[in-house]
Amino acid sequence: MDRNLALEVVRVTEAAALASARLMGRGDRNGADQAAVEAMRRAFNDLAIAGEVVIGEGERDEAPMLFIGEKVGRSRPGDQEIEIAVDPLEGTNLCATGAPNAISVIAMGEKGKLLRAPDTYMEKIACGPGAKGAIDLARPPVENLRRVADALGKYVEDLTVVILDRPRHEKLIAEVRAAGARIKLIGDGDVAGALNTCFPETGVDLLMGTGGAPEGVISAAAVRCVGGELQGRLAFRNDRERERAREYGMKDLDRIMSAEEMAAGNVMFAATGVTQGDFLKGVRFTGDGAHTHSVVMRSKTGTLRYIETVHHFARAPNYAG
Ligand code: FBP
Repeated sequence: MDRNLALEVVRVTEAAALASARLMGRGDRNGADQAAVEAMRRAFNDLAIAGEVVIGEGERDEAPMLFIGEKVGRSRPGDQEIEIAVDPLEGTNLCATGAPNAISVIAMGEKGKLLRAPDTYMEKIACGPGAKGAIDLARPPVENLRRVADALGKYVEDLTVVILDRPRHEKLIAEVRAAGARIKLIGDGDVAGALNTCFPETGVDLLMGTGGAPEGVISAAAVRCVGGELQGRLAFRNDRERERAREYGMKDLDRIMSAEEMAAGNVMFAATGVTQGDFLKGVRFTGDGAHTHSVVMRSKTGTLRYIETVHHFARAPNYAG
């Protein structure tokens, strides 16, 4: 994948972040999502790729833009064929309430390399590079905690585990508490949760629990770029979802998948903060524009670029949102 693309793709997440951040705290999660989707879709037109959305806003009949299978990018002869997983606003509720860690994200891979995850759930465990090799989704939470603590040279009591605050996690939360580890319950946004495990300054060591499957694939791409680890197993709610997964070409539906299986080959990941986060700053509006904070990374080199951008809306109206 062309290395220059990494610096281009951030424009797309910036556009979505700027548009949705305008609606922060307005209590309108769908409106904020819609603004992000429209801005991201527009920004894609300037990208020199022949892209196809493999994870997006839903199936063609339910999402007018950024639907699965939609072709995006300039698509001129010679442009790279790229698969794209997008979440224009990851954490719609977080944005609607002004809570931390709403982000706009894109993962990109070579043709045929990103898992086509159906719209179902995924049980996940993720950690940063320091604990790579220590996690195993097949083992009970307490064992994973012990192994990660050993790998990091910490006491279990000093670990911080991010878990989505959901009734389905009652047992998991009880087990983690019984083991003595600290928990950060989050209202939404397990992509940011997974990403945060890879950056010690966030104070997060592990992500555990069940979240969206599409978010799992995007997280897998992110974690791969930084050298962390993520494992996931699809968690279907009904037979229709299982059927859909088979239609997407999946065979063993109950298998534990590694990040490498979900986002194979060379992948690229970009995220821009929408609300203030543990890892990325949120959008800050100024008199004539805004500041955004993004990260772009590639699995091939592991290079990470943090991009602070100063936007002037009068001179770059495309980003006015
Ligand atoms: P949205 O951005 O679509 O609102 O999703 C946020 C999110 O919290 C994800 O981060 C997470 O994977 C998923 O929803 C969890 O789903 P649910 O809210 O159904 O438990």
